[in-house]
Amino acid sequence: MGEHVGVVGAGYVGLTSAACFAHLGHRVTCVDIDESKVDNLARAEVPISEPGLPELVAEGLADGTLAFTADDTALAECGIVLLCLPTPPDHEGKPDLGVLEDVVPRLGRLLAPGAVVATKSTVPVGTAARLPDLLRRTDLSVVSNPEFLREGHCVDDFLRPGRVVVGTDPPGSEAARRIERLYDPTRAPVVRADTASAELAKYASNAFLAVKLSYVNVLAELCERFGADVGEVARTMGLDSRIGPEFLAPGPGWGGSCLPKDTTALLHAAGSAGVDFGILRDAVRVNARQRARAVRTVREAVTGSPWGALSGARIGVLGLAFKAGTGDLRDSPALAIATELARRGAEVTAHDPAVGPGPGLDALQVVDDPYLVAKDAAALVVLTEWPEFRDLDWARLAAATARPVVVDTRNLLDSGQLAEAGFTHLPVGRRHPDAAPFG
Ligand code: UDX
Repeated sequence: MGEHVGVVGAGYVGLTSAACFAHLGHRVTCVDIDESKVDNLARAEVPISEPGLPELVAEGLADGTLAFTADDTALAECGIVLLCLPTPPDHEGKPDLGVLEDVVPRLGRLLAPGAVVATKSTVPVGTAARLPDLLRRTDLSVVSNPEFLREGHCVDDFLRPGRVVVGTDPPGSEAARRIERLYDPTRAPVVRADTASAELAKYASNAFLAVKLSYVNVLAELCERFGADVGEVARTMGLDSRIGPEFLAPGPGWGGSCLPKDTTALLHAAGSAGVDFGILRDAVRVNARQRARAVRTVREAVTGSPWGALSGARIGVLGLAFKAGTGDLRDSPALAIATELARRGAEVTAHDPAVGPGPGLDALQVVDDPYLVAKDAAALVVLTEWPEFRDLDWARLAAATARPVVVDTRNLLDSGQLAEAGFTHLPVGRRHPDAAPFG
């Protein structure tokens, strides 16, 4: 048995870290203040949908390597404690460290001599350097060990990480090595850095992805003007190993719980430091424009004009989550676009394989049968790239619509297959030769 690891917080990051470290052979105690969540987890009931996670939680509980508790005094027995606490944006977009500032002094009173405290969830640059003051202990070590987990791939990303970043001041200290050893079975390359670099590396990675996506979304706009195909342009770019093929798929804009929050936080921090991060500001601005662009494309498909009125038009939406593989609606461009269509007077019926009726969806009629969205629709709009949408019976959908046209903001569908089914397919980043007004 390796280290006894304490995990504070049982959200996406904490729960994945706890279950995966137990799977990697460590003893793990995961603490959360939410007692009902802890009770459910202790019965292997996992509140988030992550492939492989329920199995790992059940495995850890069964072999006694994983425990959940609401009693944080259990952390006194842990040699390493990972902070996986929320840092939600405040009204200015700066991360709110309130929870961390509450928890850390308490840890200072609880932890065993010589314990290592590592920040795992995303925290502003300089947070690790502040922790010794908050802990009020000279025998504890502080490490920055940011996670890079994607929703829907958390377990896989954790067990097969592209890299592990371990920040200490100075880099490569004994505490850094103890954290590093936790990941030994993954054989991932390790970056030994100072804490500020480790913290910034997380923001820098997410912000770079956001810039890459906004870049390709503007290229898609250009392709429509020039009669080029963004698929071919992106494929050519992606075959250059310096660019790489991932994160080059155009869409209705990037969203989710991380990219919008982290770009805003980094912009804010750069501004406070007197550095103009213009390229990132533009990426955020371009992203906001994508939603309006999708709405205009739908208006044009339905009325023949990008400024046409949607009042009374029935619109069928496929996809509400911010990306496929999750039911997460946080900062979802799909939900924002569907809601905006409804706000403009359209009657919007929406289907998402992972989303049912619930809060924030009042403007839409959410149905669990994808074929219901097509009923009398003036247009269908694909907003999330669920692969199963490809396999729908498109001829059946066409027959149900008032007019078989599909705005495909993800370039998910095959134009040939759609044409055979009787649909006019309006992808992004390609010229729309056969777009015709409704009525
Ligand atoms: C992201 C980072 O990838 C991860 O490393 C970090 O730890 C948390 O933030 P996640 O929020 O799960 O993960 O989403 P991700 O898969 O990165 O997608 C982000 C957004 O970009 C989504 O809205 C997605 O639809 C969009 N996207 C992604 C595209 O529009 N095109 C692409 O080619 C890829």
